[in-house]
Amino acid sequence: MTENNTAAWTRKDLIGIEHLSKSEIEAIFAQAEIFKPTLAGRDKQTSLHGYTVVNLFLEPSTRTRTAFEVSAKRLGADVISIAGSASSLVKGETLRDTALNIRALNADMIIMRHSAAGAAAYLARVMDIPIINAGDGAHAHPTQALLDAFTLRERFGKDISGRKVTILGDILFSRVARSNIYCLTKLGVEVTLAGPTTLVPQTFTNYPGVRVVHDLRQALDGADAVMLLRIQHERQTTTHFPSLGEYTSMFGLNKKRMSWLKPDAIIMHPGPINRGVEVESDIADGPRSVILDQVHNGIAVRMAVLHLCAGSLNK
Ligand code: CP
Repeated sequence: MTENNTAAWTRKDLIGIEHLSKSEIEAIFAQAEIFKPTLAGRDKQTSLHGYTVVNLFLEPSTRTRTAFEVSAKRLGADVISIAGSASSLVKGETLRDTALNIRALNADMIIMRHSAAGAAAYLARVMDIPIINAGDGAHAHPTQALLDAFTLRERFGKDISGRKVTILGDILFSRVARSNIYCLTKLGVEVTLAGPTTLVPQTFTNYPGVRVVHDLRQALDGADAVMLLRIQHERQTTTHFPSLGEYTSMFGLNKKRMSWLKPDAIIMHPGPINRGVEVESDIADGPRSVILDQVHNGIAVRMAVLHLCAGSLNK
């Protein structure tokens, strides 16, 4: 399991997908494919043995924080998790000072979630150890996009170019949508963005490989996969549609609307799900849902990211 894909990966950090080449993305997938079968057993890998990985989560998380912790431990690392509310950031310490102190405590890598777009890029510039972005404001959530594409490849084969993926919901405030737009288009996927006009940014109207559609039937017609997004109230300062009930009636995925997708289309969601709002419960739990596969794939993909970025520590 020491085989690696470091030839295609020379980066210290993972900040966003927009910076990555297709071959770097594929190096992560190749490494994740090596790690995934190991998850069925109890044996740990050794590539991070002796390393200390710090999970610095300054926003809530269930899936990402747990998956990074499991991933680092499966690679043999010691993991320390710090929640924002329990750190000295609340006493006025700067992010840089917090990170420098974590470094002085022998941390080899920092995985960070932060409410400010650009926070991970800033930390990567001022720190000499790998910084992994676990979500920064509405900017990026690179490992989510990588695990989403990894899940699509498992379902449709390694070459997903030409596949049609519709991202539906609150695109404007979604770091998952942004990272997926960059990742999927680099892999040749045809991306459709759909949702209320107030929640689909015009920025992507002319982006190569992306179309913006506000008619739901047109957006779902012939799609191989639909990625549902929840309404991200925590980042919204004004109301973007009249009520949740009206959002659901216009854009919620129900049985009738499922019939507009291809017969073998899959249902994806980064979580957390707001059942009965963006998706009916029966669909989220149904046979075409790969939502929990996405979560499980998050371990192998994050193991790959940690393994590859740790390569910079040995140079
Ligand atoms: N998908 C995702 O980022 O979930 P968490 O907020 O629970 O980490």
